[in-house]
Amino acid sequence: MKNVACIADLHRLASRKVPRAFFDYVCAGSYEEETLRANIDDLRKVKLRQRVLVDMSGRDLSTTILGEKVPLPIALAPVALTGLQHGNGEILAAQAANDAGIPYTLSTMSICSIEQVAEATGKPFWFQLYMMRDRSFIAELIGRARAANCSALVLTVDLQVLGQRHCDVRNGLSVPPEFRLGNILNMATKPAWLLSVLKSKSRTFGNLAGHVKGMEDVKSLAQWTATQFDQGLSWDDIAWVKSQWPGKLILKGILDVQDARLAVKSGADAIVVSNHGGRQLDGAASSISILPDIVDAVGSEIEIMFDGGIRTGMDVMRALALGAKSCLVGRPYAWGVGAGGKAGAAKAIDILAKELDVTLALCGYKRVADINREAVAVATSAMKVTAPAHC
Ligand SMILES: Cc1cc2nc3c(=O)[nH]c(=O)nc-3n(C[C@H](O)[C@H](O)[C@H](O)COP(=O)(O)O)c2cc1C
Repeated sequence: MKNVACIADLHRLASRKVPRAFFDYVCAGSYEEETLRANIDDLRKVKLRQRVLVDMSGRDLSTTILGEKVPLPIALAPVALTGLQHGNGEILAAQAANDAGIPYTLSTMSICSIEQVAEATGKPFWFQLYMMRDRSFIAELIGRARAANCSALVLTVDLQVLGQRHCDVRNGLSVPPEFRLGNILNMATKPAWLLSVLKSKSRTFGNLAGHVKGMEDVKSLAQWTATQFDQGLSWDDIAWVKSQWPGKLILKGILDVQDARLAVKSGADAIVVSNHGGRQLDGAASSISILPDIVDAVGSEIEIMFDGGIRTGMDVMRALALGAKSCLVGRPYAWGVGAGGKAGAAKAIDILAKELDVTLALCGYKRVADINREAVAVATSAMKVTAPAHC
């Protein structure tokens, strides 16, 4: 990973190493990708306030997430099919997160199972849950997360129906996946990837395989999943989830002040302000544009995490300045896994940490815990232009 300077380098490397269909799966947003682009563009519109001649020695990037002390205000987001970016991808990402001392979130739709990740890491991780119609299966899944000593349940609330990603259709990765000749030929040009996947502990949906009767191959499992997501899910069901899961509960996919208030009422411990990385409602606002309103409305009542569009440590600073307690990152580490397995995931975390450290210093802060809205520059000149004539 010597010549990797930034997340964009990991993206480039992954594009060479990972078969097209799986690489595209990570990069894509839904439909016209407006929200995917807005996540990134709007973050960059938040201008940071440069401060000088402030003592910036002895900086501290640590904070707490759900009451646990962590060395960085970052957690790895759930990313389905990480195990198809590189064999054992979920295990490798979890190990990189453990080495950095930050939380890793395993997706329901992972390739390695809860048990495989638990066995290979030996440390608690977060488990992300998609609610499906078969409540006995979900109860069993939550039971498995408890047995594996998972330290938080991340209930994703923005994916009861699936937003289409056009490239998945074109590549034959729609649900159910269709492996076309072109894909197979492309995989054959990625021997290192092929070897890692052939040697991996799992090549199917590890949390579902063997637990769903008569659904032993990837295609039928995916089909089963498409019909099983619970479209009737409502706020009333949170109580049922809580009855199965006594631990910390995070609701992921909140993008509206009213929903944030309902999340507080539901008794969740935290929310992730998120639009699923621009993969669900296309045309939804960027996560960063909604964050300040949600922070103002419920920031004193519930822990607020943020995700969507973070590609640099400067972006982490922006989200923290606008009130997030911590940030989840998805694609940056998924590209890292594709680019170089565990070393790639570790590199992604390290890049974000180092960039955040420099940004913290140049904004005149010593401690992540002290960051507030004063870290954002007031765009005086832009305001003058847009101010009404009578002002
Ligand atoms: C390839 C991919 C797969 C994802 N799979 C899941 C998933 O299984 N569950 C979930 O809650 N979110 C999933 N997400 C959303 C991420 O958890 C996160 O919200 C998003 O990636 C944040 O945006 P970023 O990629 O710009 O950091 C996925 C995102 C990507 C890119």
